[in-house]
Amino acid sequence: MIFRQLFDAVSSTYSYLLAGRCGGEALIIDPVIDKVERYLQLMRELDLKLVKAIDTHLHADHISGLGALRDRTHCITVMGERSAVDVVSMRIADGDRLQLEGVDLEALYTPGHTDDSFCFRMADRVFTGDTLLIRGTGRTDFQNGDARAQYESIFGRLLKLPDDTRVYPGHDYKGDTVSTIGEERRCNPRLQVKSVDEYVELMGKLRLANPKMMDVAVPANMKIGLSQDEITRRGWATTAQQAMEIAGRPDVVLIDLRERPERERHGAIPGSLHLPYPSLQESTCAGGMLRALATSSGKRLVFYCAFGERSAMAVQAAQEAGLSSACHLQGGLAAWKAAGGPVER
Ligand SMILES: [Fe+2]
Repeated sequence: MIFRQLFDAVSSTYSYLLAGRCGGEALIIDPVIDKVERYLQLMRELDLKLVKAIDTHLHADHISGLGALRDRTHCITVMGERSAVDVVSMRIADGDRLQLEGVDLEALYTPGHTDDSFCFRMADRVFTGDTLLIRGTGRTDFQNGDARAQYESIFGRLLKLPDDTRVYPGHDYKGDTVSTIGEERRCNPRLQVKSVDEYVELMGKLRLANPKMMDVAVPANMKIGLSQDEITRRGWATTAQQAMEIAGRPDVVLIDLRERPERERHGAIPGSLHLPYPSLQESTCAGGMLRALATSSGKRLVFYCAFGERSAMAVQAAQEAGLSSACHLQGGLAAWKAAGGPVER
């Protein structure tokens, strides 16, 4: 496995690059915008293809690299379902798995530092974001933070993991890089409390200045969605209302780009084909299923996903590959549902 802990000295943020092997697919956790060039170079050197960029929560102390990485690599952006960002490609819930060859992350919803905080567990390690730090815990005094919820997330979830689970935090200000669950239970001063009330009192007494970047970072991190205006201007978009009118016509095929768990949880447009976004490229090249549908049978391809971001990238790729009948459902299944479109499970 390829595992890289990358550091941004300005915000003391750790980002994590994970892949099963050189030449394979990769994902990155908590990338920082100023380091995007460095990540891209490292991925070129290791011959990695970035498929997912994940933020553990809406950051207040640095600008996320999610949007820039998506624009540069066409990867899928991932955050929790409650995150206040305008658009991410995929929203996850507790227990969801993020899988690629050789990597299997389980999403743990761990509110407290913010109400959208997730940790990600993988075999022998857990990426704790700002929920649990080395000898510390993430502050709970802004962004809907809640010390009581954080106590439950830490004591009720993280500390239940095996003692030798390696802890990789989202930040460190002292130079530590890794710890373990057992070590934190014993040595983390914030965890030496006897009750949730004691923890709440302890967190309430911290008088911390707001992060220097907060006024810039929070608004920037709330607006990371791909601009779909250009796609609409080129006539490659359809509204939910228009899509409802043409759905079911013999010359139209709706293509769902989401992953199987998303379809199971949220349902799908009746009669749509399932083609997960990562297999798009294969499908649009010579001999591919989509190319055959669009060229030999003359079908109009209408891509959709959860919120319109994957489909916006897909329509661009399909058009570039010469499939001129391709368009996408603006706003994705969310817009379709809002317009009263039928959904099958
Ligand atoms: Fe944070």
